[in-house]
Amino acid sequence: MSDPALDALFLPLEQRQLAWPEDGALFLRARAGVPTTGGRWPGLVCDQSFKPLHTALQRAGLDVLDGERGDTALPHKPLVLVLPPRQRDESRAVLARALQTVTPGGWVLASVSNDEGAKSAQDDLAKLAGNIGALSKHKCRVFWAQAGKTVDTALVDTWAALDRPREVLGGRFRSRPGVFAWDRIDPASALLSAHLPATLAGRVADLGAGYGYLSAELLQRCPGITALDVFEAEARALTLARHNLAAIETGATVSCHWHDVTTGVPPGYDVIVSNPPFHAHGREGRPDIGRAFIGAAAAALKPGGALWLVANRHLPYEDVLDARFGEVSEVASSGAFKVIHAVRARAAATRARA
Ligand SMILES: C[S@@+](CC[C@H](N)C(=O)[O-])C[C@H]1O[C@@H](n2cnc3c(N)ncnc32)[C@H](O)[C@@H]1O
Repeated sequence: MSDPALDALFLPLEQRQLAWPEDGALFLRARAGVPTTGGRWPGLVCDQSFKPLHTALQRAGLDVLDGERGDTALPHKPLVLVLPPRQRDESRAVLARALQTVTPGGWVLASVSNDEGAKSAQDDLAKLAGNIGALSKHKCRVFWAQAGKTVDTALVDTWAALDRPREVLGGRFRSRPGVFAWDRIDPASALLSAHLPATLAGRVADLGAGYGYLSAELLQRCPGITALDVFEAEARALTLARHNLAAIETGATVSCHWHDVTTGVPPGYDVIVSNPPFHAHGREGRPDIGRAFIGAAAAALKPGGALWLVANRHLPYEDVLDARFGEVSEVASSGAFKVIHAVRARAAATRARA
């Protein structure tokens, strides 16, 4: 898949506007792709908290830090590369962290696509560092700054804290900027939650759990749940879910997994709930991810087990639901969203149909 921001990021190094340091570099929000192949950048250390991207970096043979490690313990390097995220506070925090991590006199180098806030991010790094160089390529801006005397250290410290975890929704949850619907309850998830029967019971999984809203609703409203497995690919979100769910009094065993659901989940569930993602890191819609979630749920449910799913009305999930489940019904709809209840066929019914 093309990744213009990544392709553009390495141009100042390829064109020797910036020198590759002997001590190597740290790459925050790293992604694997054409510029990172072939061991061209000795001493490159990558940081990535989103499991599918973390796995891709490992598969590309790159040196990757533990993705569940959190924001601490970054190695100090004379060059810090960054692909800043879209959310403004999170982006500012990552740029500030890059300046905290780069060694004195070193460089911070970033790239952002024009339609994802390139100008704002460049202005932000200029404000932090007091100097900036830039070029435009592949509909992206690549910009760099030196960590010298012009750095506004007070602003660096303030912005580095912009994405810190905090209480939201009247203290019910802990969350942080950059996590999905970080300071609110997503309306699609609220619609799904309103239709989950209190009788849901047994072994349950939440696929793509975010900071844990749906899982919390399940634990608080369904006393028959004996075990809840929480699957989430973004470690920043999973840490919050772990915290939020630990605060709930429940007889169920709760386990949190940093996991790419599109690769499948272990079998044996009575119930699976999900509000699947329909974007990856870019702006383009990715219904293939939701379809993979549905496939993973179908494979992991016991015969007779049920998937409760909410999705944007326009998303094309019906064919995969019909192909993989015995019964599929739309139990609710509201404006842009639909709630689906899909039951895995029992073995006898499957054989009869075959
Ligand atoms: C639409 S949000 C729903 C979040 C949460 N369930 C809620 O209701 O607020 C989808 C979540 O799936 C996560 N996600 C994206 N891709 C994933 C993948 N491949 N495997 C597991 N989780 C993923 C995202 O990080 C996000 O937290």
